[in-house]
Amino acid sequence: MKAVAVTPNTRQIAVIDTHPEPVLEADTDVLLDMLDIGVCGTDREIARFDYGTPPAGSDYLVIGHESLGRVARVGSKVTRVKPGDLVVTMVRRPCPHPECRACRAGRQDFCFTGDFTERGIKGRHGFMTERVVDDVRYMHRVPPELRALGVLVEPLTIAEKALIQVWDVQDRLPWKPQRAVVLGAGPVGLLGALALIVRGFDTWVYSRTHAGSPVPALVTAVGGHFVSSETSLADLAKQVGNIDLVYEATGAASVSFEALGVLGTNGVFVFTGVPGRKGPISIAADTLMRDMVLKNQLVFGTVNAGADAFAASVADLAKFAATWPKQVASLITGRFAPEDAPRLLTGDADGIKNVVSFG
Ligand code: BGC
Ligand code: ZN
Repeated sequence: MKAVAVTPNTRQIAVIDTHPEPVLEADTDVLLDMLDIGVCGTDREIARFDYGTPPAGSDYLVIGHESLGRVARVGSKVTRVKPGDLVVTMVRRPCPHPECRACRAGRQDFCFTGDFTERGIKGRHGFMTERVVDDVRYMHRVPPELRALGVLVEPLTIAEKALIQVWDVQDRLPWKPQRAVVLGAGPVGLLGALALIVRGFDTWVYSRTHAGSPVPALVTAVGGHFVSSETSLADLAKQVGNIDLVYEATGAASVSFEALGVLGTNGVFVFTGVPGRKGPISIAADTLMRDMVLKNQLVFGTVNAGADAFAASVADLAKFAATWPKQVASLITGRFAPEDAPRLLTGDADGIKNVVSFG
C-alpha cells in the first residue's frame, strides 16, 4: 500500500508502496479509507528529523496526524460508525504505566510519564497512507457536509482544548472575558481566532504578514481585527483595552513573553506553540512576576486534545462553515497528490493549510 514515509537513519522522505495493508484485529476496530491529511509545523519538524520516532521495529514512520477518513469496514462490536461515515481519528494513545492517572482515565492528552504514543509523530504510524485501522473509541464522526473541511478538525482541537480550560479557570470570575489577542496567523492561530469569535470575543490577530497575504482581509471578513507585527505590542494593547486572553500560536518565545507583558488584569495567557531549539532569551521576569500577582494573571500551556475537544471541534467547524463558508474554505490553500508530499514537507511553506489527498 502507498504511504509517505520518513526514515530518520537515512534521512529520507519518500512515497513508498510497500507499507503493509492494515487488518481488523479487534472487534472494535474500524478500517478507514484515508481521504485528506493536513500538513503542519510538527510534520515539517519531523521532516527535518528534529522530532518524530518510528514505531518499535520499523526504520520508517508513516507521517500525518491531521486526518479525515471514510469508514470502509467495521468490527462486529462497532455500533458508533458504519461504512460510508466520515471520521477524524485522534492522535495520542495512552502510555502503559498503571500509575499514570491521566492515561488510565482516558486522558492521555494529560499523560504524566511521556511514554504515550502519537500516530504519525511518536512510536506509531500516521495517516498519510491509503488505509488505516484503529479502535472506534478514537474516532469522531464528521457530518457529510464537512467533507471538504473535516481535515481541519484536528488542528482546531488545539484551540478547543485551550478554550475548555480557559472557561474552567475563568469560572473564578462572575463575568465573561471579552477581549482576546491571538498571536500568529497560521492554521492554529486562525482557527483559534474563529473559535473565539463564535464565542463572542472581540478578537485581535497579531502577526507578521507579507505583501499580498490574504490573512488580514480574511480576519476582517470574519469580524476580527488584524494588526501587523510592525505595530508594537504596547500599541496593540492601547487599541485593545484590557486584554483578557492571549492565545499564543507562534512558537516564538520572544514575542510571546513580550505579549505576556501586556496581558490585562485577570487575564489568561495560553501557550500552544513549541519553540525551536534556539538559545535562551532574556525577559523582564521581575515585572512579569509582579503583574502576575498584582493582576491575578494565569499562564498555562496546552498540548494535544481529548475527546471533549474533538467533539467541540466538529461542532464548531460546522458553525464556522455555516457562518463563513468562503473564508473557512480559503484556509485550505492547496490540495496535493501523495507524490507531492515530500516537497510539501520540506519546501518553503506556501499558503495556510496544505492537504494531501488520497480519496
Ligand atoms: C499535534 C498534537 C500533538 C503535538 C505534539 C501537534 O502538531 O496536533 O496532537 O500532541 O503536535 O506531538
Ligand atoms: Zn499538527
